[in-house]
Amino acid sequence: MENKDVIILAIESSCDETAAAVVKNGREVLSNVIYSQIALHTEYGGVVPEIASRKHIEKINQVIEQALSDADKKLEDITAIAVTYGPGLVGALLVGVSAAKAISFATDIPLVGVHHIEGHISANFIENKELEPPFVCLVVSGGHSHLVVVKDYGEYEILGRTRDDAAGEAFDKVARAIGLGYPGGPKIDKVSKEGNPQAIQFPRAKVADNEYDFSFSGLKSAVLNYLNGCQMKGEEINQADVAASFQKAVVDVLVEHSMEAVKRCGYKKFAIAGGVASNSSLRGALEEACKKQEIEFYYPSPVYCTDNAAMIGVAGYYEYLKGVRHGYDLNAVPNLKLGERI
Ligand code: KG4
Ligand code: ZN
Repeated sequence: MENKDVIILAIESSCDETAAAVVKNGREVLSNVIYSQIALHTEYGGVVPEIASRKHIEKINQVIEQALSDADKKLEDITAIAVTYGPGLVGALLVGVSAAKAISFATDIPLVGVHHIEGHISANFIENKELEPPFVCLVVSGGHSHLVVVKDYGEYEILGRTRDDAAGEAFDKVARAIGLGYPGGPKIDKVSKEGNPQAIQFPRAKVADNEYDFSFSGLKSAVLNYLNGCQMKGEEINQADVAASFQKAVVDVLVEHSMEAVKRCGYKKFAIAGGVASNSSLRGALEEACKKQEIEFYYPSPVYCTDNAAMIGVAGYYEYLKGVRHGYDLNAVPNLKLGERI
């Protein structure tokens, strides 16, 4: 009898994680291998694109082989290869795209290009088997902050986006300024637990012409000004208080915009995605806000919040079912828009 299972081999290399996974029927992760380059970039205070590309080249085959072997699968068992082709760092993306194309060419396994943010959103389907569109999703990562209506699988309407820095970028920059180092998000999350979120009143920015858009650069400047002010006055800085007050300012804005969006759409389901979605204060505040409005709140485990290939396998599965196939001319698209298919 023919095996009807759809087994996706997924590859992700858009930033500083070299990752591969095997996903069965869109919801079951058979393996999820992540080689994180964080340690390599820490001494530079952020991701160095050229170093990232080189490391991806070194690791990609190893990571793919490991994902297949962890899943106890061979290439013959694979239905399609899903790969992130944008947005992201062009050199980094090219490594994953080239590896996927090479395997597809050598084996005739169909190739499906996947949008990185679509992957982040789809991470919610892994552990929440009952979750189905439509729902509202807040995507907050190192490179992106989007409020999205997930109308159907692969169909999105963007309600709001950041006008300047992404939420994770703000976390990383503020962490660096207060001496916590890279990557800042998890470190701010941790030290904030010791601080007073009301200690310093940082601004909550509104964007005049779109109530769902975000702006974090003013907040970042306010933190830097505060630090400079303290230094000039010879006052000691309370790292935990600054971290907690900054985090509270970010969380307040994210929660307020998200709840407005949920109200407008009328859906009773809300999800979060992306690296910042693993922030404990954000999760707590959203959980409470959703409870108040009687909305079901969905979130992925931290390992599926930050970059991974399992989420690409899930998004790739739904694209595959829609009939999306890419040729060997598939290219890395660093500024790929959500919902755009090239
Ligand atoms: O999704 P991701 O791995 O990469 C992108 O697609 O950008 O997100 C990485 C970002 C970094 O900016 C990192 O500081 C942030 O997610 N992050 C956090 C936490 N964990 C990771 N931000 C706040 N709190 C956290 N616990
Ligand atoms: Zn990401």
